[in-house]
Amino acid sequence: MSLLDAAREVRDAAYAPYSRFKVGAAVRGTSGRIYRGCNVENVAYPEGTCAEAGAIAAMVAAGETELTEVAVIAASPSPVPPCGGCRQKLAEFGRGDTPVTLATTDGATLHTTIGELLPGRFDAGHMDGAE
Ligand code: THU
Repeated sequence: MSLLDAAREVRDAAYAPYSRFKVGAAVRGTSGRIYRGCNVENVAYPEGTCAEAGAIAAMVAAGETELTEVAVIAASPSPVPPCGGCRQKLAEFGRGDTPVTLATTDGATLHTTIGELLPGRFDAGHMDGAE
């Protein structure tokens, strides 16, 4: 199964009663295994979590801390862009050139990278010199 198909499949499980905007995400670990996540909203709105965060949590829980590929899908007019927080979360476990496929349920896709999504990112090197 392709990574995008995995994201499409898990999107059905999204819990989005407030926004009605279901999102599915899948990441591939260096082992080749696929990890999936969907958005999980909450009546206390800020407590909701994004699909990308769920997929990353599944990967880390399985013992992997490096991802090689990302796919995200939603019923959006244009391929769904990850939020700022998810860009930082993806950058933690991927590289600048890690491929990211953004998709709509209508079949439109946009191919990008973690580096393009988050240029000038904050990384561990910026903490050099901390006292
Ligand atoms: N959402 C995601 O899960 N991932 C994204 O990349 C964009 C936004 C979710 C959060 C919330 O449940 C809903 O979409 C509307 O913002």
